[in-house]
Amino acid sequence: MKTIHTAALAGIAFALSIPVAIAAQEDAGEAASAKAAATLAQMTQEEKTVLTHGIMPLPIGPNPPPVPPEALPGAGYVPGIPRLGVPALLETDASLGVSYVFGLRGDGATALPSGLAQASTFNPELIEQGGAMIGGEARAKGFNVLLAGGVNLMRDPRNGRNFEYLGEDPLLAGTLVGHAIRGIQSNNIISTIKHFALNGQETARKFVDSTITPAAAHESDFLAFKIGIEIGNPGSVMCAYNRVNGEQACASDWLLNDVLKTEWGYKGFVMSDWGAVPGLEAALNGLDQQSGAQLDAAVFFDEPLATAARSDPAYARRLDDMNERILWAIYDNGLDTNPVRPGGAIDFEANAAIAGEVTEQGIVLLRNEGGALPLAAEAGRILVVGGYADAGVLSGAGSSQVQGEGGPAVSIPLGGGSDFAPFFVETYHSSSPLDAIRASAPDADVVYRNGRYLSEAVAQARQADVVIVFATQWSTEGFDQPDLSLPNGQDALIAAVAEANPKTIVVLETGGPVLMPWLDRTAAVVEAWYAGARGGPAIADVLFGKVNPSGHLPITFPASLEQLPRPVLDGMGRFEPNFSGASANPDDELAADYNIEGSDLGYRWNARQGHEALFPFGFGLSYTTFATDGLNTDGRTASFSVRNTGDKAGADVTQLYLVRRGGEVKQRLVGFARVDLEPGASRKVELTIDQRLLADWRDGEWVMPAGSYEFALGEDAERLGPVTTVDLPGRRWPQ
Ligand code: BGC
Repeated sequence: MKTIHTAALAGIAFALSIPVAIAAQEDAGEAASAKAAATLAQMTQEEKTVLTHGIMPLPIGPNPPPVPPEALPGAGYVPGIPRLGVPALLETDASLGVSYVFGLRGDGATALPSGLAQASTFNPELIEQGGAMIGGEARAKGFNVLLAGGVNLMRDPRNGRNFEYLGEDPLLAGTLVGHAIRGIQSNNIISTIKHFALNGQETARKFVDSTITPAAAHESDFLAFKIGIEIGNPGSVMCAYNRVNGEQACASDWLLNDVLKTEWGYKGFVMSDWGAVPGLEAALNGLDQQSGAQLDAAVFFDEPLATAARSDPAYARRLDDMNERILWAIYDNGLDTNPVRPGGAIDFEANAAIAGEVTEQGIVLLRNEGGALPLAAEAGRILVVGGYADAGVLSGAGSSQVQGEGGPAVSIPLGGGSDFAPFFVETYHSSSPLDAIRASAPDADVVYRNGRYLSEAVAQARQADVVIVFATQWSTEGFDQPDLSLPNGQDALIAAVAEANPKTIVVLETGGPVLMPWLDRTAAVVEAWYAGARGGPAIADVLFGKVNPSGHLPITFPASLEQLPRPVLDGMGRFEPNFSGASANPDDELAADYNIEGSDLGYRWNARQGHEALFPFGFGLSYTTFATDGLNTDGRTASFSVRNTGDKAGADVTQLYLVRRGGEVKQRLVGFARVDLEPGASRKVELTIDQRLLADWRDGEWVMPAGSYEFALGEDAERLGPVTTVDLPGRRWPQ
């Protein structure tokens, strides 16, 4: 039974409510500023370096620090100042739920599906509910900081952390991360937004240098962060491991002082990523807090910072500012007035229902030949192959790993002997697709084979009426994929099974895009991503039509590696993969030249190059059909109508694109609306166009050249409707 009713026209409702919410945020923000200044005035010099650094309260690092009793096993702990009523910061990962930290707390949590599954919903309201749910669990477990809000744009489909993030588009990812953060912080806890910025790959992550012009950065990755901050008002920004234009991101004057704090007027604090602080000077360059300090070469933001502040007024000023910012985030989110306590009640059933709803809306139907799906309940003999579908659904690994109550269904340790080995476990949440398929088709004869032996799978496929192959691509923080194949011979398995039985349906559980050399031989393909706590039933409900699929791709699935700006991922094969991403040799250097694509990621790059994707951004089929018409726009607002032209209720995700400007190809998503429609029903949609999406960033300003702007509605980034052209005057405006 559904427990959630998402509003139709979610995107529109949210667009209208944003200004009101932002005004309320501003009032609260001013009160928090006054309170922070008052607390700062009472602090002793010794107290001023309490909030500026924290530990990782886990047995990790060469010299694990003593862990005070109030620090829960989690990612971070920063002591408070009880004399002044300042609470300790109790920090846990991450965007997909409260992470597991090797089971040290002995508890489980509710896993949302992956970030890409979330983004596929195109549903800000639902993502806000998901944020509220995981934030509620963090709070109940005694945490008041959730290290969530991962919004690095997908610059490379092989990035091992794509599954944590929200895709390739600044409007979609920025809007969704803002709503996720708003949901999390509705629990009177702080959320981060991370990893600022341009953290585009895991290979050599501690020293790879993302090179990019200010213009390209503002029109892409920065814009995602900016939109997310505007909507979500996160208390903290986590800076990234990598370098940006030669500087470590956590010590980048440009990123932290110029862009974040000056240009954007950000009031919260910058916390470092764990082990990302190169030295004390990071404080002058805008870093406010050193996290998990045992992972850095020294605890720079303790005694060395205090000493510098005693003799150098620049450090003294910064030290005050650092404290004021951290206090602002604490007060703005009411951490002091609504203290957390471990042991709070969690309604795991209700929370799993929220996760399940996100999964249902995030599953993307990629192919459906001759109406192969939905399956009939009396489907005869159904063969289910592979992917541990008899046990559960795959999840991504690393610091974001969540495990459900009662533990995982399957866990395969892959980490060898390092300190970080417990992070590298291929983990399947206990939510079996096979069980759910059996429940959906009680009269069918459902058999399972694990797919290890091709001959066995093929022989079974010949005897089946329908074959459902579950194919998995595990990915993890710390490592990138070397290519876009399905590992462990699964491409060959699918090809052979599809050869034996043309009614083969492939369910993908992947961290990002994969190539599909077998695609033409299959009847249907469903992208289920990492499907979270209720993945099994959600997948079965889509396969059997209880849920009409409505997910749309938030990323481009390339047709080949050659289509990418970087056919070979920078550093792949040159550096020995290791979780820390540090180099054994301090002289090692690596650049990732993001000026190749500039701000044109994914579909924007493809439009510029004339490439056709395997599946484009925005793509997603339904069991019904939709038609849009009547696009009317003046460049600031747009309206159009959507009709359900099929015979099943369903949700459309209509996308509005700028396609050309001044006659030149310039494709950008400028609006989207998810609309639930009964068969035959239609609805008028109105959208506001964020003017930054029409502009270029030039010398510190947004600039819209005078001339023609061509817009089109799209079923996806490649299937565009008729063009509506508007002539707009030239305009420029500051941040
Ligand atoms: C990750 C962050 C995470 C932190 C704390 C780092 O390795 O990059 O995303 O929040 O660890 O666990």
